[in-house]
Amino acid sequence: KQIGVLGVPMDLGQGRRGVDMGPSAMRYGRLQEVLEGLGHHVHDYGDIKVPVVESLHRQPKEQGGMGYLEAIRTVCLDTIEALHQMPAGVFPIVLGGDHSIAMGSVTGASRGERIGVIWVDAHADFNTPQTSPSGNIHGMPLAHLCGLGDPRLVDLSRPGAKVRPEDVVLVGIRSLDTGEVKLLRERGVTVFTMKEIDVQGIPAIAEQVAAQFDGFARVHVSLDADVLDPEIAPGVGTPVAGGLTYREAHLLMELLADAQIVTSLDLVEVNPILDIANRTARMMVELASSLLGKKIY
Ligand code: ARG
Ligand code: MN
Ligand code: MN
Ligand code: MN
Repeated sequence: KQIGVLGVPMDLGQGRRGVDMGPSAMRYGRLQEVLEGLGHHVHDYGDIKVPVVESLHRQPKEQGGMGYLEAIRTVCLDTIEALHQMPAGVFPIVLGGDHSIAMGSVTGASRGERIGVIWVDAHADFNTPQTSPSGNIHGMPLAHLCGLGDPRLVDLSRPGAKVRPEDVVLVGIRSLDTGEVKLLRERGVTVFTMKEIDVQGIPAIAEQVAAQFDGFARVHVSLDADVLDPEIAPGVGTPVAGGLTYREAHLLMELLADAQIVTSLDLVEVNPILDIANRTARMMVELASSLLGKKIY
């Protein structure tokens, strides 16, 4: 495969500093060498320019503002543009940054066409500004991709939803806000919580995901590092106990690779400040290599 790597070092979607260093940490974790070792050709497009927090004025949430919405919007638009610049047929890997970058990456990867989304995360990120208890935009990208929420984030590059809620599958979920539960049910999103993973196992779930996206020209995996158990991935800003084990996470990626459906990938929410010796970034690199066809036999 031809792989295009794009960094989006943005930490404006939430309060804890450090996810802006995620792209560097995954590059230091040898992303390019590992993927080239699998026989892929990797071209790194560098980083999207992201303003530093100190240079911006936050719209206070207390006064009904949306934090750094305008800056996030601009970064997402630039991400879309950069992805559109990649030649057709390239498999994009977008390195975050907090999960709000996915409003850009998924839109860019879709190239204006129908796209399936596999959102692998402890959280659904399906809040709107109205339902969000935190006001953090990184808890809202999937809702905005589905057309819900603030028009400034919904209408990126063209008006309206970029993803159909019925084309979204969530895997690894174990923390939902009340408003999200209601919206996910209303919109008919497929949700595999940790309970379903415990009961059915990863193979049965991977099979259902592959069946759902059979025949799709584009399927995007958005991998949030906090889906992993915090024991193996301590470098995240919003850890939730009881996550995917090392083997469950790899098996999911391996089975998606076997299904040959995935056409683009995000690796997000790696926070090197909170990490132990770059463990979480290295884990994300390993998972990317499983998704991109690593076989040991
Ligand atoms: N649901 C919570 C919120 O809306 C947590 C979201 C965490 N999202 C993430 N991308 N880590 O604030
Ligand atoms: Mn090249
Ligand atoms: Mn997330
Ligand atoms: Mn998460």
